[in-house]
Amino acid sequence: MGELMAEIPYEKMNIQWFPGHMTKAQRMIEENIKLVDAVCEILDARIPRSSRNPDIDRLAGDKPRLVILNRTDLADPAVTARWRAYFEAQGLSILETDAKSGKGVKEFAPAVRRLLADKLRDYEAKGQVGRPLRVMILGIPNVGKSTFINKVAGRKAAIAGDKPGVTRGKQWINIGTGLDLLDTPGILWPKFDSQEVGEMLALTNAIKADVLDKETLGANFMLRLRALYPNALMERYKFEPDPEANGFELLEQAAKKRGFLLSRGEYDIERMANTLLGEYHEGKLGRLSLETPDD
Ligand code: G4P
Repeated sequence: MGELMAEIPYEKMNIQWFPGHMTKAQRMIEENIKLVDAVCEILDARIPRSSRNPDIDRLAGDKPRLVILNRTDLADPAVTARWRAYFEAQGLSILETDAKSGKGVKEFAPAVRRLLADKLRDYEAKGQVGRPLRVMILGIPNVGKSTFINKVAGRKAAIAGDKPGVTRGKQWINIGTGLDLLDTPGILWPKFDSQEVGEMLALTNAIKADVLDKETLGANFMLRLRALYPNALMERYKFEPDPEANGFELLEQAAKKRGFLLSRGEYDIERMANTLLGEYHEGKLGRLSLETPDD
């Protein structure tokens, strides 16, 4: 997709975004990582690259890791399957979930037990049968960490309370399957190394779209959709995207079809940009992934 995007008239914009609380969040992870047996990293299945902070490698150290591709209900299933293969080829364990509905979530406990099979055998050999495995959930803001924890915990959830040797006040949620989760997920900050990453994060609501220029974000999104999912544009907005048009012109084409007219006989492309972003967020354009492993 990267190369593809380089060929089209892509608009540049400034990203006004200031990471607050970054150090605090990172410190929380650093302090707690030693208390867990495994880390579970939640990614947005539509943007597994942009929603992954490479600091995870340093922060997780040698802890076994499970990667969760969440929001699969909004992602293109064929692309999600490619991401699964891509991560598995790197030796990572993968779980696909829709934390909102709970789909895939019941696979979590078995996946963690498989990941930590050696540790479980170790405990057994030492006579520590029933000792819970401890897991920290990590991910960028708004990726679905709390929703996932709530779904995994379900009704069986109980605060396990302080345990000897554990930092005072630390809360563990016993999810009833031999697993304890740290009750507060670790917030990883997204890495902005390009405008494209910023746009991916804004399109998927990891950061507020207001920090970008929404019209330009919408225009660039139109270009992406024309390149990747032209049928989604045709089906939703009933127009055949002009292959020569820039992103603003595509917004205008769609605005015409929607009847978003300004008083002076011009079309309201700002309203169209907002509509496009909102409808993508709600899944109304279909299941569309924005990154593939070969980009
Ligand atoms: P966080 O703890 O990582 O910050 O994220 P949180 O669980 O608060 O989830 C953020 C939003 O994403 C929530 O929506 C939640 O319902 C939604 N969400 C989480 N997992 C999934 C999923 O697998 N699929 C879908 N479609 N949505 C998911 P919200 O607060 O109601 O806001 P909105 O984003 O729906 O408007």
